[in-house]
Amino acid sequence: MPPEDEPKVEIKLCSENDLVLLNKAIPEPGYHERRFASQQDGKASYLLAWQNGVPVGHLLIKWEGSGPQVNKYLPDTPELNAIGVWPPKNRSKGIGGQLIEKAEGMAKEKGFKQVALAVEIDNSRAKELYEKLGYMDWGHGEYIDEWVEKGDDGEETQHKDPCYYLVKNLE
Ligand SMILES: CC(C)(COP(=O)(O)OP(=O)(O)OC[C@H]1O[C@@H](n2cnc3c(N)ncnc32)[C@H](O)[C@@H]1OP(=O)(O)O)[C@@H](O)C(=O)NCCC(=O)NCCS
Repeated sequence: MPPEDEPKVEIKLCSENDLVLLNKAIPEPGYHERRFASQQDGKASYLLAWQNGVPVGHLLIKWEGSGPQVNKYLPDTPELNAIGVWPPKNRSKGIGGQLIEKAEGMAKEKGFKQVALAVEIDNSRAKELYEKLGYMDWGHGEYIDEWVEKGDDGEETQHKDPCYYLVKNLE
């Protein structure tokens, strides 16, 4: 979509006061609270995209990177994580791209020379977007994204998702 047609979106760091509206607009029990908590711990920044006073997207910058599996090859490389635009009718309007651009700018300001992200092997549309934005395969094969999903009932489900791992030079 040409930039002049992109919807007016404001991208801001999540604050505690945003959580009520965020859970209303993008309901997922505990998801936003966990990401906000990692921001409070100084390990991450949780960016929200707002349109007409409603949250329509999110992105978590994990400043310490993706963990040992990756950090041995890519030290000092923050991970862009939890990228999503909601509801699905808001996609393909440039919001995801704007969230990523803002995250890259913040990483650059902090002196990082590159950022990276994982994308599930079957998510070819998202991969296409990242490649359009200049992300390239990291060159070390498949990356297994291991994460724990907490259900409404507190039950935990372990996920191990095969992903491509992509990196972008910010210099
Ligand atoms: C991937 C995602 C964050 C991109 O945000 P977006 O606002 O749609 O992205 P932009 O408008 O800036 O760029 C659009 C491009 O994103 C890609 N895309 C990926 N998934 C898409 C989807 N479900 N719908 C529309 N576009 C999608 C396409 O390459 C698209 O290009 P096109 O419009 O020329 O077809 C968003 O589509 C989304 O939330 N998808 C579902 C969750 C997800 O897959 N997250 C990524 C995890 S790694």
